[in-house]
Amino acid sequence: MSVKILVIPGSLRTGSHNARLAALAVKELTLLDAEVTRISLQDFPLPIYDADTEARAGVPGNAVKLKQMMSVHEGVFIACPEYNASVTPLLKNTIDWVSRVRERGEAPLAVFKNRAFALGGASPNQFGGMRSIMAMRQVLEVGCGALVIPEYIAVPRANEAFDEKDDLADPRAAGALRNMLARLIEMSRLVGMTSNARVMA
Ligand SMILES: Cc1cc2nc3c(=O)[nH]c(=O)nc-3n(C[C@H](O)[C@H](O)[C@H](O)COP(=O)(O)O)c2cc1C
Repeated sequence: MSVKILVIPGSLRTGSHNARLAALAVKELTLLDAEVTRISLQDFPLPIYDADTEARAGVPGNAVKLKQMMSVHEGVFIACPEYNASVTPLLKNTIDWVSRVRERGEAPLAVFKNRAFALGGASPNQFGGMRSIMAMRQVLEVGCGALVIPEYIAVPRANEAFDEKDDLADPRAAGALRNMLARLIEMSRLVGMTSNARVMA
């Protein structure tokens, strides 16, 4: 049975390098026989997290919808743009809200703990979003208890990294992306099997 992977481009910008990386991940995951859903955070607008807003109005419906979208996938790939050497407000705010969703009878942060995550980034500079990827790893692993696979893809000089077919021009980078996604599929399958076993026990 094919593994379900959710792909989240972390940028809403027209012509986003990270949206391009996410689109390439969708193509490669499909070639690896995964069942892929790509979303846009444009469809899940959220206010900046504020505890008073949450106390007054509860968690916004879009955070609940996004959490439910994550719940029906065994793996998640997030393409992380980098702002000021860290994760962008859009991605951090999205994770913060989703971390506040707790449905009836559910353990805290269950949606992060019961699936595998992989991270990538693309940036015009020489670091390729590396610092954003590291910051996001901290948020997901340390903050939310997620399993984030060690493999990642950082695409430096993103304005010239993609060829005319929207593939990565550097064959080593293309290979690293494929390896990372194959590992994501493998780990998603394992995590999915162990969480199903826990539900059945
Ligand atoms: C406020 C701000 C800070 C930025 N800081 C960094 C940075 O620290 N490192 C970096 O590689 N790029 C930085 N950039 C450039 C972004 O990586 C670049 O805008 C990139 O295209 C954003 O990703 P996207 O193309 O997916 O939208 C910054 C951009 C903005 C607007």
